[in-house]
Amino acid sequence: MQPLILQALKGNKTQRPPIWFMRQAGRYLPEYNEIRKGLSFVELTQNVDLSIEVSLQPHRRFAVDGIIMFSDILTPLNGAGVPLYFEEKKGPILEKTIASDADLSLLDRFDPSRDVPYVKSIVQGLRSAIDSMPGERPGLLGFAGAPFTLASYLVEGGTSKRFEKTKAFIFGKSELYHKVASRLSEMMIDYLSMQLSSGCDAVQLFDSWGGILSPVHYKEFIAPYTSRIIASLREKFPQKAVILFTGNGSHLLKEMSMQKPDALSLDWRVCADCVSREIDPSIAIQGNMDPLVLYGSAERTKKSVQEVLSMFAGRPGYVFNLGHGIHPESPIPNVEIMVQTVKNFKNPA
Ligand code: CP3
Repeated sequence: MQPLILQALKGNKTQRPPIWFMRQAGRYLPEYNEIRKGLSFVELTQNVDLSIEVSLQPHRRFAVDGIIMFSDILTPLNGAGVPLYFEEKKGPILEKTIASDADLSLLDRFDPSRDVPYVKSIVQGLRSAIDSMPGERPGLLGFAGAPFTLASYLVEGGTSKRFEKTKAFIFGKSELYHKVASRLSEMMIDYLSMQLSSGCDAVQLFDSWGGILSPVHYKEFIAPYTSRIIASLREKFPQKAVILFTGNGSHLLKEMSMQKPDALSLDWRVCADCVSREIDPSIAIQGNMDPLVLYGSAERTKKSVQEVLSMFAGRPGYVFNLGHGIHPESPIPNVEIMVQTVKNFKNPA
């Protein structure tokens, strides 16, 4: 029997919407913080047993329908030889960046099984943990960063507010950008193929910074690469699912839909009418409650979950999620209310 989440991602009507949420394994959970105390974030992502444990924590607490492997979108870049670390409250810092053709050699070699062997072991370990669970089994999700978002990290050297370096790079050194994005596409095809052949049911492509581009520039700088990745995975793994998430992407629904993923993960800013007008009905929807609603009251959380459900639950192929990653101060009782409200909901027949 296919896990509920895979049924929905493949566009099938399910009795109730499945639920998981982005960044569900993380700092809002005391049991995560306990494990994280003794190690740096990079060390944690390279520790197979602890990464498996951290991936399973949200399922143990909330019985969510999807388990996402614990890692980071920058892990494969680190494996390829880009030194990086995470600074508390600042985020990732990359110690080498790309500015000229010569820097392309930074991405010369990447064999996922050789260079990030721990990711493969984490997926395999999670697969066997799920296979031995009693009752209804959750789906296993893998992920990678989309080429544009990864290229932005490689150019900026970290997270940015205005992305001036990224834009100066794509508009000023377009040819070099296309070489970088093309190489990153090949790397992510290999990386995601490794995850799918090691036991993931679905993978999500995180284009967290894609929303900084206009629709016209999305077509030029993003579409050729995300569509290449999606088409290649579909050909190799037709039974599995690919989800595309674009942060702040409400103005890009049509362009995202044209990439033909199995499902689109929506930012919380979208309007319901735009979704039905601009997204091909064959594509499943995932999303999209504003994660900061969880900072409000229990009543507000429940009301907001119901608003999202009434927007999307009629659609064949729907998975409840947040419109972006959960924030570290989210009160756990509200997370419980969110999960229970979704689990008690019956999709219209
Ligand atoms: O969703 C999950 O639970 C799986 C694990 C996961 C992490 N990062 C763990 C993490 C996933 C899927 C990601 C993806 C990721 N990483 C994205 C795309 C999603 C998005 O938010 O748009 C991005 C942009 C990154 C890069 C990144 N990693 C940043 C900017 C930061 C620092 C900001 C922050 O939240 O601290 C990270 C660190 C990170 N990745 C943490 C976790 C749990 C916090 C690290 C810690 O424990 O200190």
